[in-house]
Amino acid sequence: MEIFSTIKETKECLMSLKKEGKTIGFVPTMGALHRGHASLLERGEKENDISVSSIFVNPIQFNDKKDLEKYPRTISEDIIKLKSAHCDVLFAPSVEEMYPAAPIPSFCDSLKEPEKRRQKKTEKNNPFDLGNLDNVMEGKQRSGHFQGVCVVVKKLFDIIQPDKAYFGEKDFQQLAIIKHMVQTLSVPVEIVPCPTVREPDGLAMSSRNTFLNPDERKNAALIYKALMEVKNLTSPPNPSSPKGKESMKVADLKKWVEQKINENPFLKLEYFEVVNSETLASVKDWNEAIPLRACIAVKAGAIRLIDNIAL
Ligand code: PAJ
Repeated sequence: MEIFSTIKETKECLMSLKKEGKTIGFVPTMGALHRGHASLLERGEKENDISVSSIFVNPIQFNDKKDLEKYPRTISEDIIKLKSAHCDVLFAPSVEEMYPAAPIPSFCDSLKEPEKRRQKKTEKNNPFDLGNLDNVMEGKQRSGHFQGVCVVVKKLFDIIQPDKAYFGEKDFQQLAIIKHMVQTLSVPVEIVPCPTVREPDGLAMSSRNTFLNPDERKNAALIYKALMEVKNLTSPPNPSSPKGKESMKVADLKKWVEQKINENPFLKLEYFEVVNSETLASVKDWNEAIPLRACIAVKAGAIRLIDNIAL
């Protein structure tokens, strides 16, 4: 595996491979790799000639400075995992390499004060038109987060120029937003959604899971259990039965989930939404004609966990 930290070297290497007619599959990450990331890499490796990954803890997508500081950084272990997933090229730049000098596209508390003041004065901080996709769910809780994600992903796409890029359904809103960005800016890359990889008890794999204490970790399994029950409650037991979605209003389902999660002393519901899978608009009445997704965010102690399921 080739490892590069500069944009120039990475571009040179990938350009020459492209000239040879090789296709490039790309998996952007922030490191602290687990089996969820590995599943994306495996898919990319299968579907392309060259498998590329990036590790970059992107400061501008963090709202909370402490969250950025304590984000796990495990580059040596990550390199071993990437090699065993047959990754051909790793791009692991520094913050300075990705955001050289001012003006840094800045949205969040991870920025230095003068940068924040300048940014406030000059512009609205939203370089990407994401429709309403970044105003709901995670967007409500984490102001500027998705703008920061789009800035870095667009930069990475410009550097790597992949044929296909792989994103996890675990971060369903991020996936919808990246698809939207690529479509509206006509970026020539195919976005490939990949299913969520879970721990044996159903908890979605996440770099944040390592921060859970044993009680929180054990009880966090309830999140996926609740989502499975939501799916069962809203799916007709058999095609001819009128039961299923008709048997429970969306508002009642929300109350049911809230109670189910909040009665557990280790968990606190942040939101549960049933949304249109493409527009992410909140659904108030069941509509069989549109693909639906149930999305949830739960706090286990200080740690925010997100998950979702197709309905
Ligand atoms: P990160 O959290 O490292 O995730 C990198 C990719 O792995 C994302 O596409 C994410 O959805 C996917 N992923 C994480 N957990 C997964 C799981 N349990 N199953 C399947 N896929 C999973 O998401 C980011 O980094 C950043 O926002 C990034 C896109 C790299 C931009 O900075």
